Amino acid sequence: MSAPVNSNRIPRIIGKNEKKEYYFFMKLMKRTVDCGSLRKEDAGRAVILNGWVHRKRDHGGIFFINLRDRYGVTQVVVDTEAEADRGRAAELAAACAELRNEFCIAVEGTVRPRPPDMVNPSMATGGIEVLASRILVLNRSETPPFQIDEESNANEDLRLKYRYLDLRSAVMQNHIRLRSEVTFAVREWMTGRGFLEIETPTFIKSTPEGARDYLVPSRLYPGKFYALPQSPQLYKQLLMVAGFDKYFQIARCYRDEDARGDRQPEFTQIDIEMSFVDRDDVLSMTEGLFGHVFKKTLGVDLPAQFTRLTYEETMERYGTDKPDLRFDMPLRDFAPFVEAGGFQAFKDALAADGEAKRQAAAKGLSAAGGGVKALVVKGRADYSRRQIEELEAHAKIYKARGLAWMKAASGGNVEGGVAKFFTNNAAQILSGLGAEAGDLILITADPKRSVANTALGAVRSKLGKDLKLCDPARFEFAWIVDFPMFEFNGDENRWEAAHHMFTQPQEQYHAMLEKDPGAVKGDLYDLVLNGYELASGSIRIHDSELQKRIFNIVGFDPDEAERRFGFLTGAFKYGAPPHGGIAPGLDRLVMLMAGQTSIKEVIAFPKNSFAVSPMDDSPGGVEQKQLDELRIKILNQAG
Ligand code: AMO
Repeated sequence: MSAPVNSNRIPRIIGKNEKKEYYFFMKLMKRTVDCGSLRKEDAGRAVILNGWVHRKRDHGGIFFINLRDRYGVTQVVVDTEAEADRGRAAELAAACAELRNEFCIAVEGTVRPRPPDMVNPSMATGGIEVLASRILVLNRSETPPFQIDEESNANEDLRLKYRYLDLRSAVMQNHIRLRSEVTFAVREWMTGRGFLEIETPTFIKSTPEGARDYLVPSRLYPGKFYALPQSPQLYKQLLMVAGFDKYFQIARCYRDEDARGDRQPEFTQIDIEMSFVDRDDVLSMTEGLFGHVFKKTLGVDLPAQFTRLTYEETMERYGTDKPDLRFDMPLRDFAPFVEAGGFQAFKDALAADGEAKRQAAAKGLSAAGGGVKALVVKGRADYSRRQIEELEAHAKIYKARGLAWMKAASGGNVEGGVAKFFTNNAAQILSGLGAEAGDLILITADPKRSVANTALGAVRSKLGKDLKLCDPARFEFAWIVDFPMFEFNGDENRWEAAHHMFTQPQEQYHAMLEKDPGAVKGDLYDLVLNGYELASGSIRIHDSELQKRIFNIVGFDPDEAERRFGFLTGAFKYGAPPHGGIAPGLDRLVMLMAGQTSIKEVIAFPKNSFAVSPMDDSPGGVEQKQLDELRIKILNQAG
């Protein structure tokens, strides 16, 4: 018979001889309350807490332990002297001496109010502490590679290598909790409106989202591959043909593209598709969804309808299709002031405008021509040369030839930079642009209007950040509608679908698709939040003839189309309903809700910027046997 467990003696060390006692106490010391719940009203309660040692302070015989779990931190006090008469002083003192940060422990004790001068108002549990009577070390920890703090300062690869520790911080715990709540709120709203959550396969034929596919080799069919879905696009359309008129899915997507702050090789979409709808139905459904999610999770009221901008409006006004509307500072047309001024570069840009328009008109095509655009930066006439040069360098990244500038002075005058060319019409310029003394005026000019817009738009975005014009607590949504249907790929000299090939061109353009693809607008829409593209969607083509014409314009060979998407176009022959949908990125959504600028902060186990997971070292090599089974030969392992 084994010796009875001594319930007075708490084992500190999980040694061979103490295993039995350890497991006995482990059961005895299961938590009765979490580390974030206790308040003054709980004074006198006997409790057991389980958690991690966040900090330990030794005040000579009295130890203070901040015990942490995902609900919060509770201060535990170990008064070894006071415990002396209960015969556990030695046990407690020894346990405390051994404790280090990140030890996982169980504490039994009594809640007591903190003395008034010790109350910590910044802690939810700051009004109380738990006077410990027993401590059991559930598991020890090696010294962690970084301190588990509110906000980690450790470098990113280290954080990712020890992600399980990084995730222990309050900030990361909050991000992951928010993500879970957002996902739940999405499900709640969608299912409440009759949407069915339907899973689609992740071993599929390639999808046409435009990035490279991740491929999965087939063992049964050597030389053949599944592709991981870049999105469930084709499958959700097939579900519409199948009669599931309201579908959604929290869908994992995979894209082999360069990582950026708002991109990961695998990410999650709130994928949605609906039948018998038009654009406005999809837009208002999405507004309802976000209204619910923001109210439920952040308590934020969103407007019932979001701002709508056409693609042309947003490009002219903000120089981007992802405008941050938390600050205004619109781009203005400087063209009306060019003629009266004496600055040749501006005149040349507009002369090209006339020429491009003339040529386009002769061919019966649409054309944007050249442009001269201005930005008024309120009260920033004090910007130095160096600061303006920095902005110019930024504009040049976006192909601007330069960034002209002048400063609004008193008496309706302008000074500095290109001001000397505009002394004649300075007053008109200032009133036309709405500029006042003390403002800085920045100007881009280019024979391609889109370049003048985009480069100045990039300067606007940079100024928004530099001048801290973006209130992190504000959420400014905007729909961008009436996008061009096609984009011209100059390198390959062909038209490409701006969204994907299944997007419907707006009806009024159906007759002229082939004649002037550049002028065709698609029935597609983006949802932008605080300068990020949050969602994309479109009304789809459900007519095989129209689909063939689109394939044809983007130079998609009919045989190739049949081979790749025959299963979809084939399905469309069987009474495909009119349908459309949208896919908000879940990672980007939670990132913005959490006030972050990288989606890695809201993904439990993301990849680093090189698509590598420093924690498990994936991607990794595989056994030769596995390669042999797949009939795969690695030719070059360099790089
Ligand atoms: P799209 O390719 O625009 O459209 O993607 C929709 C949304 O998904 C998010 N997203 C990403 N998030 C993180 N990392 C990435 N690499 C990444 N790529 C995209 C963005 C984006 O707005 N099938 C269509 C949608 C539709 O037409 O219904 C699609 O996937 O938030």
